[in-house]
Amino acid sequence: MGSISEDPNLRQESSLFSSLPPTPLDEPFSVNGAYIQDKHPQKVNLGIGVYRTENGEPWPLRVVEDAEKELYDAKNVARHEYLAIQGDREFLRLAADLVFGFGKGKSSATGVVEEQRNRVVSVQTVSGTGANRLGAELLARNIRPGCVWIPDPTWANHHTIWELAGVKRKTYPYYDSISQSFNFEGTIRVLSESAQKNDIVILHACAHNPTGADPSKEQWEALVKLCNAKGLIPFFDLAYQGFASGDADKDAWAIRHFFNDVHKMEFCVAQSFSKNFGLYGQRVGALHVVTRPSAHDVTQDLLANLCHLIRGEYSMAPRGGAEIVRTVLANEGLRDRWFEDLTTMSQRIRRMRHALYDELMKLKTPGDWKHVVNQIGMFTYIGLSERQVFAIREKYHIYMLKSGRISMSGLNERNVEYVAIAIDDVVRTIN
Ligand SMILES: Cc1ncc(COP(=O)(O)O)c(C=O)c1O
Repeated sequence: MGSISEDPNLRQESSLFSSLPPTPLDEPFSVNGAYIQDKHPQKVNLGIGVYRTENGEPWPLRVVEDAEKELYDAKNVARHEYLAIQGDREFLRLAADLVFGFGKGKSSATGVVEEQRNRVVSVQTVSGTGANRLGAELLARNIRPGCVWIPDPTWANHHTIWELAGVKRKTYPYYDSISQSFNFEGTIRVLSESAQKNDIVILHACAHNPTGADPSKEQWEALVKLCNAKGLIPFFDLAYQGFASGDADKDAWAIRHFFNDVHKMEFCVAQSFSKNFGLYGQRVGALHVVTRPSAHDVTQDLLANLCHLIRGEYSMAPRGGAEIVRTVLANEGLRDRWFEDLTTMSQRIRRMRHALYDELMKLKTPGDWKHVVNQIGMFTYIGLSERQVFAIREKYHIYMLKSGRISMSGLNERNVEYVAIAIDDVVRTIN
């Protein structure tokens, strides 16, 4: 065997990673980290998007505990085996039914339901983030869109996901800060003037993050027309079904409207079970790709392509959380318990909206605060400037995102007055 002699030109002086580009910290997680470090007794966490009880604690849903017990007692010996690459197929059927409402209302005849189900290719994902990522990868590789239209503002991870997928990003003006509601005119104008065929449009199905401002039914109808007229590909992000209004059907209205449109358009839905089942760390989700019913069935090839991407990324999604969701959705009794839990969470959040609004009214805080009660879901875009956000953190130890997004579930009967006083103070003293 010959000896190996070192080539001095190849000697590495510094680390391979010494010139990595600077990357920003993820804001919700770093704000949460700062909150945890803070030792102030009155600190309040309005940063991270997770549900908290009246006592400020996490809440394992009662129905989830029932399902966990049922699964444990069943002692299925295969419970830790690999899933199929596609995921748990019964879970996927139930998850798709939940989104699209198959089998409900007028079109419940068996043939019609099967026809509708056949339009959708579903795969299990690493929660909603994974569904967004997988869908982006699928479209980037196969459709090669000119760009993706992302609402401004949005869940910040949309930008990261589409950047990593290598698709050019553009934004549409989602929020009108004067009326503190969805900027319908701006959205329609920008997309009609500038979007091109096969561009992707990110749409939050309900409870828009971060603003809590959603389009009305009439506005959704106009958006369907626009997508059809321009040949755009809608990409729904569904992270709050049932959590937003307490009614899972109501929160899926926009998606069902797109699905049932006469033009039978093709689109994606990224579904998350983090918030509506409180299964944040279990990573339960699905990507549903809706296809156009046509002579040439594309669904087999589509499924094979998605499975190929999944296999190369993470082989298959985790099974534990999906089994919990499947157990609940498959059983009428448990499903009803789930609806009760959704009501508990959404009503507590609504109560906090009213409590904060009432406190601000009592204090006669300058400004119009109606949006606090009008917006929906986990978040409110409270309307504080970045300077006010930093001041409120500095002086009152209240944590929120620099955009002024607050997570309503961080409020409770004990801290809402304190938070209102703090808001009142920074609104009066800092601009
Ligand atoms: C709009 C939106 N999409 C997707 C997600 C993804 O959440 P997860 O990956 O936990 O399902 C979130 C979570 O905050 C969200 O707000």
